Amino acid sequence: MPTMETSRNEPRSFVVDDPQKGVFLLDREALVSEDVLRAEIKNIFAKCWIYVGHGSELKKNGDFQSRRVAGRPVIFARDSKGQVRCFFNTCRHRGALVCTERHGNVRRFSCVYHGWIYNNDGSLARIPGDEAYIENFDTSGLGLKSPARFEQYRDFWFMCLDADAPALTDYLGKATDYIDLVIEQSPSGKMEVLHGTQEYDVQANWKLMVENSVDDYHLPTTHSTWLNFMANSGVKVEPPKDKDLVLPTRGFAFDLGNGHFTTDNVNFRGRPVAAWIPLYGESAKAEMTEIRAELVERLGEDRARRVADTNRNLVIFPNLVINDGSSVTIRTFFPDGANKMQVTAWALGPVEESESARARRLDAFLTFYGPGGFATPDDVEALELVQQGLANWSDDRWSEMSRGFGREGEQLNSDEHHLRTFWRHWNKLMTGAQA
Ligand code: FES
Ligand code: FE
Repeated sequence: MPTMETSRNEPRSFVVDDPQKGVFLLDREALVSEDVLRAEIKNIFAKCWIYVGHGSELKKNGDFQSRRVAGRPVIFARDSKGQVRCFFNTCRHRGALVCTERHGNVRRFSCVYHGWIYNNDGSLARIPGDEAYIENFDTSGLGLKSPARFEQYRDFWFMCLDADAPALTDYLGKATDYIDLVIEQSPSGKMEVLHGTQEYDVQANWKLMVENSVDDYHLPTTHSTWLNFMANSGVKVEPPKDKDLVLPTRGFAFDLGNGHFTTDNVNFRGRPVAAWIPLYGESAKAEMTEIRAELVERLGEDRARRVADTNRNLVIFPNLVINDGSSVTIRTFFPDGANKMQVTAWALGPVEESESARARRLDAFLTFYGPGGFATPDDVEALELVQQGLANWSDDRWSEMSRGFGREGEQLNSDEHHLRTFWRHWNKLMTGAQA
């Protein structure tokens, strides 16, 4: 595996990880260097499973979404027989994009340059002027190419450019239980991506978004505006105590292996399923009580409480975040240079959700996580301030990330345990160091 090396060609480490002293430091070069980014493309984005899309975005046969995944233009499509596929969006002739629409429904993709045509299963359908080729010219291998691996877990589809990677479910490992908690909101076990996509750029390194997505330490300061809004809306901002210990009594963070991790804490700000708060208004109370009763009936009291009464911000290494809180947000992001990222986010909800429940979900999605919501603009501002400060990296080299390190027992969501989990795995993939 190619790794980052020092000028003396020795493997280097980007972290100081000293459990004896309870100190964890991160080399800020990891957040500013174009060399590091080039190595990440090789060692991380070409090796790990990368989120492509959700099956519900392809409702009918022939539906497609074209998007960039791990920096590559791809087509995420359901072919005419219903099979979900992923193609590199590049013509086998001389390389042009064969799909220039963001989404749609087609039987065939036509390249605008010389007119080669591909079926929606990727096979080559026609070459204009094919009499110019020798008589037995072999076109059988000239269909659209696909990533080496393309697999799904509960309709979350991922691609991997490494043919030798472990199966997706093995890669996800313990994170699957946290994905299950998201899916179990739906009585039929079917969730769908809701219409509309949030897209925004942040002038900051992509790994700062990984950190920020699960960093509950910043909540009281960065999000004081939102906390004041909630308090003024009559919502208690202290987590309730759970006397039966089905739920975490405080906010925790868990290492799920393979670089994945999650926060896990009692909900105290309302959820579109099964937790009424004054913010939703009296008129929502009856329906939310019904939703709660269905969950208990179907899953039992304990599991229903896990599904409905906890928030979980889950990171699937390297760049997928599922925020299951006041709404369900799927968020992914990719670097556009060491100092900039492009973020894409979607809302997810149960397919059978009523119009009124769906409206509450969308309202929560936009109010907190939306690019114009209470959280995201403040987070973006904070991340961009970090990136600006990091221009001093060569003279002030190390970020301090030791909160909770060395403490016995469980780690809190306001600690930096889960951030260390990410950085250890990242460092291992980048340098060959043992995590
Ligand atoms: Fe597509 Fe020539 S590049 S047909
Ligand atoms: Fe935030």
